[in-house]
Amino acid sequence: MRDYENLDLMHRNRLPARALFVPYATVPAARAMRPLASPYYRLLNGSWDFHYIPQGPAHVPAAFPENCGAICWDKIPVPSNWQLHGYGIPHYTNVQYPIPYDPPYVPDENPVGLYRRDFTVPQSFDGRKTLIRFDGVDSVYYAYVNGQFAGFSKVPHMPAEFDITKLLMSGENELCVKVLQWSDGTYLEDQDKWRLSGIFRDVGLISVCENRLIDAQVDALLDTADYETGLLSIKVQTEGNPGLHLRVTLFDGETALWTGESPAGEASLFAQIKSPLRWTAETPNLYDVVLELIDGEALIEAQCVRVGFRTVEIKNRQLYVNGVSIKIKGVNRHDFHHEFGSAVPAEALKNDILMMKRYNINAVRTSHYPNDVRFYDLCDALGMYVIDEADLESHGVVAVKHYDLIADDPAFETAFVDRGVRMVARDRNHASIIFWSLGNESGFGCNCFAMAAAMRALDATRPIHYERDEQALCADMYSRMYTSVPGIIEQGQLDNDRPFFLCEYAHAMGQGPGNLKEYWDAIYQYDRLIGGCVWEWADHGLFKTDEKGEKYYAYGGDFGDQPNDGVFCIDGLCYPDRKRPHTALMEYKKILEPVKFTFGAGQMTIKNLWAFTDLSCLTMRWRVVRGGETSAQGVLPTLSVAPYTSETLPLPAEAANGLFEITCELNHDTPWAPRGHEVAWAQHGQVEPLPAPERAAAPLTVQECCGALCVCGDDFCLKFDAKQGVLTSWTKAGVEMIKEGIRPSMWRAPTDNDVHAAKEWRKQGLDRLQSRLESFTFEQSDSEVTVEIVTVHGGYIRRPALKFCQAYHIFPDGKVTLSAAFIPYHDELPYLPRLGIRFQMPGWFDQIAWAGRGPHESYPDKKESARLGWWRQSVAETHEPYIRPQENGSHEDTVSLRVTCGQGVGLLIEGDGFAFSTHGYTPEMLTAAEHTNELKPGDLTQVLLDAWMGPLGSNSCGPEPLEEQRLYFREPRSFSWTFRPYFIREM
Ligand code: GAL
Ligand code: MG
Repeated sequence: MRDYENLDLMHRNRLPARALFVPYATVPAARAMRPLASPYYRLLNGSWDFHYIPQGPAHVPAAFPENCGAICWDKIPVPSNWQLHGYGIPHYTNVQYPIPYDPPYVPDENPVGLYRRDFTVPQSFDGRKTLIRFDGVDSVYYAYVNGQFAGFSKVPHMPAEFDITKLLMSGENELCVKVLQWSDGTYLEDQDKWRLSGIFRDVGLISVCENRLIDAQVDALLDTADYETGLLSIKVQTEGNPGLHLRVTLFDGETALWTGESPAGEASLFAQIKSPLRWTAETPNLYDVVLELIDGEALIEAQCVRVGFRTVEIKNRQLYVNGVSIKIKGVNRHDFHHEFGSAVPAEALKNDILMMKRYNINAVRTSHYPNDVRFYDLCDALGMYVIDEADLESHGVVAVKHYDLIADDPAFETAFVDRGVRMVARDRNHASIIFWSLGNESGFGCNCFAMAAAMRALDATRPIHYERDEQALCADMYSRMYTSVPGIIEQGQLDNDRPFFLCEYAHAMGQGPGNLKEYWDAIYQYDRLIGGCVWEWADHGLFKTDEKGEKYYAYGGDFGDQPNDGVFCIDGLCYPDRKRPHTALMEYKKILEPVKFTFGAGQMTIKNLWAFTDLSCLTMRWRVVRGGETSAQGVLPTLSVAPYTSETLPLPAEAANGLFEITCELNHDTPWAPRGHEVAWAQHGQVEPLPAPERAAAPLTVQECCGALCVCGDDFCLKFDAKQGVLTSWTKAGVEMIKEGIRPSMWRAPTDNDVHAAKEWRKQGLDRLQSRLESFTFEQSDSEVTVEIVTVHGGYIRRPALKFCQAYHIFPDGKVTLSAAFIPYHDELPYLPRLGIRFQMPGWFDQIAWAGRGPHESYPDKKESARLGWWRQSVAETHEPYIRPQENGSHEDTVSLRVTCGQGVGLLIEGDGFAFSTHGYTPEMLTAAEHTNELKPGDLTQVLLDAWMGPLGSNSCGPEPLEEQRLYFREPRSFSWTFRPYFIREM
């Protein structure tokens, strides 16, 4: 039996998993926690020799590892994934296994990466033991030093250490690593991700003395009798001479709060700390626990564990941190980078957490494996609750037999337990971790019980999470994914003593998700709902260059990878670079904001939704907007509204005179955002329409010729095609404003969340409406010319979808009112993507201004973050460049829209809260494009005016839009809008 197909063999020579890392020579060095500065650590990252063997392990040259000089080597950076350096291809698959389901065996064609480098051991290592540590290697690997076997390990996202002392020589040494792409572990690493291989995290040498600290478990809790008294319990394991001595000190800055001493060996120390500053994600107060191993008077080594005092409890069907019930405002995050794959640089880790903090997020689930160790240090320091998840997913079994195939097969027990235990042993000292998660989508069975028990034995201070444990038999809470809003309300009302958690919800794929507001209204309403984590933090696109040299983000299938799940890896709140937020993230920020305002007659109520912080850290500025300008403004006196309480204040008197807006800014710098950063805002009132041109009336002339009807006035002219019933031309100041005439529109480029509904839309022909004229009439009176058109529209194969009745009222001052009705043609129409009109203006009409929601896009169920106001943008700016192009850039609650060209000629459209979008693309172009590089703007400005825009939902992997929000079309629907030719010179 081969090691990499042996379910019972987890490793060879691997040292027990532990939390402690690098020894330091002095206490200050230990407290600085910079391993690279320690004389006892040497990082081996860099450019290594590499040899790729796609044919599999049987083809590894016999010269490896003893005679590596005989092998031809390329170069590769360590850490990295070999598929991102031209060896093999990146492969994206979600559920489906990338290899035949044949555990514990894997195909012979199992790509191998051979790695090699020379190294010298620093002098500071002399006379001591040397360990080598691999932080992450995918999938399994064999390490050799100077041609001799050093160790073997499995589980990509967990570190492994081997003692290589006896294999070392003085001077130059050679390290070789053989990495296999597939192993029996592959069946347990079926996470929805790019499948990438190689040494993807740090490799380093650690020097330890014969007398040494092996590991420490530090629990910094609070006494649940008062949640004031700190309970510090420290278990330290050392090895070496019997006479060794251990000193443990708790530092608050430079002050030693407590010192304990114990003989070394297996030492247990305990202390009560009077009223320590408590750790929460809002208040990440940390202390240093310094461990000194002492021989007589001499310090042998020092290490530091940074801890936070906090207690996590599940009781009264809620989640309590430090005795306070909290909500998880979370995201799922893959430890992934758009250029470097699973080799995520430290700055990128930090950037993610900073960005989460700035968007009011307080929790991360490390979906679906333990992250780079540095991630947890950052979460401790910056304040982020973490659900730490074991490197385990066997989802692919569902395509083979049944979900529990592996979870309930005792043959896999050792592997399950190994994955859980190593995570807890590595991470348990982190304050940020509030739950352990057994893994993801691995079915349920005996192995889950064994794993949970083994993890509890190592740490009983945190609840256990596991979504597939549907009855919460070994987990401490109920957890589900993608439950609908009505579904969670039902859960909220259930009489059950344990909380309900949404480990995944609001699938953020492409345009969407809708209903974040409704989710959170329910979560705030019901105690039992403890919040959830949006799926997921970021899109996982990989950069690729097309034939023309243009860069774009690739997804599953773009590398010829099979089987693949296409665009399903593009489902995050951020664009792949994780710098640009999707509008979904802006929406999430608004929904999660810690301060909520409600307005009543002459007053406002300010509610603090922070659990641990009062509002005195905020400056609240208000202003009143009239005619696009601030007409009054002020600053509220600092309020110290306590957590979870509210205060009611009178509204400033000026608020009655316009649109009232209030914003809450940090009044001091924090480690995650500067002073002035906005955490919450609210508006009260209406937005005014944009100013409209006023023109003198002049008589209208009506002319019929060659099947057209022209209605002209002073400096403007409308032309209708009377045979087709379409307004085809409209000039102002001699400038043609119409490129393609007005027609009804019921199609949007399907969003990822429209995937199911769009099948119905296509079936009914909404993507290919043809029209038939039923009647065209006009009438002239003294005050107006009225043109009435009735047309019928449908797509081939099916019955027509609708009858469209338009009445254009053309007035002598140039104003045109369009009153129209949509009449369903039959009663089998599905709920619609949109209902409105579309037309094109020439491409040089590329500037817009509007009064309504902005500046970013908004949809009926995703509009809380878009403020009412007067906005201006170029047409190009309104485009949201979704990685797979789709419907975007709509704006809800619009009362005026102006589309103008450079000379200042254009159309001003007014209505009672419509939605609009303007694009350099037609909906058909957006529908056809699969990648951003396939989308080239035409010489046109597509204008879409929607009397109703359909909601978004999150049906790509979650519920459809809420029933009451769907755009059903069973009764006639009508609207009336005013169009005014606009010329800046006339304003
Ligand atoms: C969930 C799964 C995630 C991801 C998501 C779809 O079922 O846990 O890993 O695959 O679906 O994007
Ligand atoms: Mg899965």
